[in-house]
Amino acid sequence: MTTNPFPADFLWGAATAAYQIEGSPLADGAGPSIWQRFTHDPRLMAEKGSTGDIACDHYNRMEGDVDMMAALGLQAYRFSMNWGRFLPEGTGRVNDKGADFYSRLVDRLLAKGIEPLVTLYHWDLPAALDDRGGWLNRDSAEWFAEYADVAFRKLGDRVKKWVTLNEPWVVTDGGYLFGALAPGHRNMFEAPIASHNLMRAHGRAVQAYRAGWNDEIGLVVNVEPKYPATESDADLAATGRAEAYMNRQYLDPALLGSYPCEMSEVFGEAWPKWPAGDAELIRQKIDFLGLNYYTRNVVRDDPSSWPTGAGRVRQDSALHTETDWEVYPAAMTRMLTWVKERYGDIPLYITENGAAFSDPPTAEGGRLADPLRVDYLKNHIRAVGDAIAAGVDVRGYMVWSLMDNLEWALGYSKRFGIVHVNYATQERTPKDSARLYSQVIASNADVLCG
Ligand code: BGC
Repeated sequence: MTTNPFPADFLWGAATAAYQIEGSPLADGAGPSIWQRFTHDPRLMAEKGSTGDIACDHYNRMEGDVDMMAALGLQAYRFSMNWGRFLPEGTGRVNDKGADFYSRLVDRLLAKGIEPLVTLYHWDLPAALDDRGGWLNRDSAEWFAEYADVAFRKLGDRVKKWVTLNEPWVVTDGGYLFGALAPGHRNMFEAPIASHNLMRAHGRAVQAYRAGWNDEIGLVVNVEPKYPATESDADLAATGRAEAYMNRQYLDPALLGSYPCEMSEVFGEAWPKWPAGDAELIRQKIDFLGLNYYTRNVVRDDPSSWPTGAGRVRQDSALHTETDWEVYPAAMTRMLTWVKERYGDIPLYITENGAAFSDPPTAEGGRLADPLRVDYLKNHIRAVGDAIAAGVDVRGYMVWSLMDNLEWALGYSKRFGIVHVNYATQERTPKDSARLYSQVIASNADVLCG
């Protein structure tokens, strides 16, 4: 970056998700979620014994956490809401006491000049709805629209940027195909149905929003650019399947109105014929698209790799994070330019980007040096700048994550925060990456130029 490509009104923020930070999952009348069940079941959790019962205790420390965001200079905060705090049974009875937590959070953010970016669904389906089939039940689209409507009524006067779903691919791949995430199913026939109902739910929530509100609503997907290991026909075809399965399976129906043709190749007889009218419901006009970027993936044809027949070729000479993800910022630029080329000029936000690296203990004076994360952020923010310089309409960047938190099935073993959390004392300590990020925000990325 020799000259600064970031527009003056670029929005700099940080992201979290409800179950990962809040704790007190059943407080004030909230109903349990599928993550509450999953973390308490040692047969399902990879990191046994880690739960979201306390997490970062954000539910009780919200005021101080917002003050910390203000001290860091954040302009935006992307958080998700636990559906079961609004509707303990998922539908029907509204629990005002639970919903009030988010109302207080929004008020405090606004009082500090921080814009809330609110995600309705970041994986914590009410357990009562899972008992009715969860995302496999076609009615789930209506359940979600009901919850969305309750949330819009509660916060729509103050929240101007809404997200329907966070990463439907992860919900399905982890929750219904590989079973590594809640609700822990492993079933090829279920996966396409869950994905499809998630996308129908997205469509219904956008419709509910348009019926009464006119600010912005969008969708968040994770995109992982796929690179062929060689130029062979087999590797190129495998790359296409991997990319359709993970990236286009969600973006194509949401923005173009149809599924990629590779889907039936990937799922075979498990890929259903969808009812007429569904495509139209899924393709709602959205105001922005949120993209979560962490890594790329180099693939080769590998028939044993289920379900895509595309195997990962690990780039052993490259730097990898603690979650074994290759650090490869150039793919982030490529993702952004690809989205513009394929889907047109929709406003884009990076709604998540960050890295887990093991941190040293806090040093004297409260300093915590995390040089790998500092470099990761610098290089990825520069990669966003490259896309903007190339004409892509990127409007904001949210680092994942504001603070260390429950990394789902991996528990507290992976730290993604720019703020360190001591889980014994709940003390928060900004890492060097947080200091760097504050400078990036204050200078609108001028510090990364040159
Ligand atoms: C999710 C986060 C998660 C992060 C790191 C994203 O897929 O939205 O909840 O913690 O990646 O794995």
